[in-house]
Amino acid sequence: MTDKAKETSTAAAATGLRGVVVGASTVSDVVGDKGELIYQGYNIHDLAKQSNFEEVAFLLWNKRLPTQAELDELNSLLADSYAVPKEVFDVMRHLPRDADPIDVLRTAVSALESYDATARDLSVGNSRKVAIKLTAQFATLVAASERIRNGKDPIDPLPNANIATNFLYMLKGEKPSDHDAKLFDACLILHADHELNASTFTARVVAGTLASVYAAVVGAIGALSGPLHGGANTNVMKTLLDIGEVDNVETYVKQALIEKRKMMGFGHAVYKTEDPRATHLRQFSKEMGERVGDTKWYDMSRKVEEVMMREKGLYPNVDFFSASTYYMMGIPLDLYTPIFAVSRITGWTAHVLEQYADNKLIRPRADYVGPRNVPYFPIDQR
Ligand SMILES: CC(C)(COP(=O)(O)OP(=O)(O)OC[C@H]1O[C@@H](n2cnc3c(N)ncnc32)[C@H](O)[C@@H]1OP(=O)(O)O)[C@@H](O)C(=O)NCCC(=O)NCCS
Repeated sequence: MTDKAKETSTAAAATGLRGVVVGASTVSDVVGDKGELIYQGYNIHDLAKQSNFEEVAFLLWNKRLPTQAELDELNSLLADSYAVPKEVFDVMRHLPRDADPIDVLRTAVSALESYDATARDLSVGNSRKVAIKLTAQFATLVAASERIRNGKDPIDPLPNANIATNFLYMLKGEKPSDHDAKLFDACLILHADHELNASTFTARVVAGTLASVYAAVVGAIGALSGPLHGGANTNVMKTLLDIGEVDNVETYVKQALIEKRKMMGFGHAVYKTEDPRATHLRQFSKEMGERVGDTKWYDMSRKVEEVMMREKGLYPNVDFFSASTYYMMGIPLDLYTPIFAVSRITGWTAHVLEQYADNKLIRPRADYVGPRNVPYFPIDQR
């Protein structure tokens, strides 16, 4: 490595690779200064308002929107894919009841690979099949993890229902209202992909070794679970519950900032203006508040937003308003990150397909800053 390259890469590493372009992709683009998010050329605002999650999944995997016949075919493949081997449910039953659901999901996906004889077939055709299968199975696994930890049996999906409806149905045992199903479907669209975020980059690094789609996805779930990434949404709701009342917001947030604590759901590594996903989720939080007849969580969120903008100039990200939206849908707090995965599985697999199609092992260098030529002394002489 030249000194110049070494200097650049050291600077890049110190800033968490911010702004470093590590490869080409058509899957999605984040335009940070304009607050734009694009999936395969389509603006997220158009997709959130007019599309549906299954259509978006097809788009991410195939670089174009489906025809009606193609969408029907995908829906029927998804409907055939919800089932998971009962042995995987057994693995989940053996985990402690208080295990974090995102860890349960990661373990279940790892187990799933052992029951898929095609897992090592990385051909385009098979990898697409695995992507479709995992997309349906993620809904089953996350819903089942909630039931299993409460001593209940998993519920079979409804025939002819989309993933949003089926997830809520398998979670709660009753069909969601059309309103909630539609709103949840839009939430899935908004979380489906986000360029080279930490979990997607992880998935590509794993896929770059020509490991299986399952292995790449397991790595991605691990990266997603951290509080600086997908783990933020659960912490947002914990914070709102901790604040308790709108009147407490000002003091709480200011104190958190004095203590240099990060307010979860604010700031972003790329967006320097409003995160376009937050625009929709803010509206969803308001709608859910009006539906349940109590806008307290929405009002409190708006107040936090106002104080954070005034005090730090920071905008809310995707995790901020999704928290109160899911809370008002009656979803347990620790399922918010797994729900992120129920959507993001489509983006992860789209990137894995792209990686396999033009693969090069991802292997950066480190700037070694340790000592050299240290004399070795046997253990009894140290
Ligand atoms: C997302 C995140 C990791 C982006 O990080 P980043 O762009 O590298 O920004 P940094 O963490 O370096 O923070 C830059 C400055 O803004 C502050 N800041 C950033 N996010 C903040 C937050 N959520 N609350 C309070 N201060 C924050 C930092 O304290 C730092 O201030 P300083 O310069 O006075 O030390 C960061 O904003 C964060 O941790 N947010 C909370 C977690 C979250 O919501 N994650 C979900 C992301 S979609």
